[in-house]
Amino acid sequence: MVAAEMVMTQQETLIEREQEAIERITRARAILGDEVVILGHHYQRDEVVQFADYQGDSYQLSKEGAQVSAKYIVFAGVHFMAESAAVLGRPDQVVILPNLNAGCSMADMANLEQVLTAWDELEQVLGADPVNRIMPITYMNSAANLKGFVGARGGTVCTSSNARGALEWAFAQREKVFFFPDQHLGRNTGKQMGIPLEHMVLWNPFKPFGGLTDEQILNAKIILWQGHCSVHQQFRPEHVDLWRKHHPDINIIVHPECALEVVDKADYIGSTARIIDVIAAAPAGSKWAVGTEVHLVNRIKNQFPDKFIQLLSPFSCLCSTMYRISPLDLANVLENLVEGRVINQITVPADVAANARLALDRMLAIPK
Ligand code: 13P
Ligand code: SF4
Repeated sequence: MVAAEMVMTQQETLIEREQEAIERITRARAILGDEVVILGHHYQRDEVVQFADYQGDSYQLSKEGAQVSAKYIVFAGVHFMAESAAVLGRPDQVVILPNLNAGCSMADMANLEQVLTAWDELEQVLGADPVNRIMPITYMNSAANLKGFVGARGGTVCTSSNARGALEWAFAQREKVFFFPDQHLGRNTGKQMGIPLEHMVLWNPFKPFGGLTDEQILNAKIILWQGHCSVHQQFRPEHVDLWRKHHPDINIIVHPECALEVVDKADYIGSTARIIDVIAAAPAGSKWAVGTEVHLVNRIKNQFPDKFIQLLSPFSCLCSTMYRISPLDLANVLENLVEGRVINQITVPADVAANARLALDRMLAIPK
């Protein structure tokens, strides 16, 4: 068989197996009934997210996850989302991630050891008790032990939909904010609040003292971790210029994980849920170039055929880690549950969970 034929055959086999998986999921769900709830993030592919009982952005899903009564929560999202559901859930609830390799490259850009080192160095510059001067905020896209770190120091978690509220909450209590791991969400939100760029400094975790001078740290309002989303960094200001050149009446809407140069040129900025809401409310015939993950953009495009909706970038900006969850993975975890077996459970050690819960509860109390 020639190489091209082999690829075709493999492709056909995969399509058949995925089709079978959809039937397997439907059967298992019918048996499991109310015992299982499936939560699906907006970036999840259609073949998987069609089974979600609740679909939403990371804020909505953490809120929903904290309220569900089902014993089993199957999270069609990425690892940090499932961890947060495990922290917020009841002790008898079981959270399952259909594919344990579904992580988040941004969340992996900050680990506890690095953050502890940074905090210690900040303490050296700011004085013995930085707790009085600096508030740690971690983006939802971070490991549970970082949420625990923040919770133990009076800080909070934020998502892309309440980052401004979280920063305002922090500045009402302390003079500075240490924001990780997404520099762009921190910088974009700080700029919206009128904080000058020179008062938002970048902390490089691979350099002593983040590569900053004492003066830079002392003068900063926000210390931003040098992390980013590999999907959203692909959107460039030139893409905005190109759309505007060919469609002067187009609206540009982007996720706040995009770089400041892109956000500065956009008409709207918002979480995945806000992107959907804004486009849904727009008149028929309106034109949109959207700077976020391709599965969501394609879904909105199909949902509103009366509007012109395109991905902002000419390249397919795919969250490859979210994509790792396939219908086969979903079928597998559900069928195991039918057989009485829990596989791919996500757990958080009790001491970490207690502090992470403090930070997540503070987040849920901050208005959007
Ligand atoms: P939302 O908070 O908008 O759902 O975004 C989560 C995320 O991971 C975006 O990359
Ligand atoms: Fe993480 Fe980016 Fe994927 Fe969101 S889109 S889950 S930030 S890698």
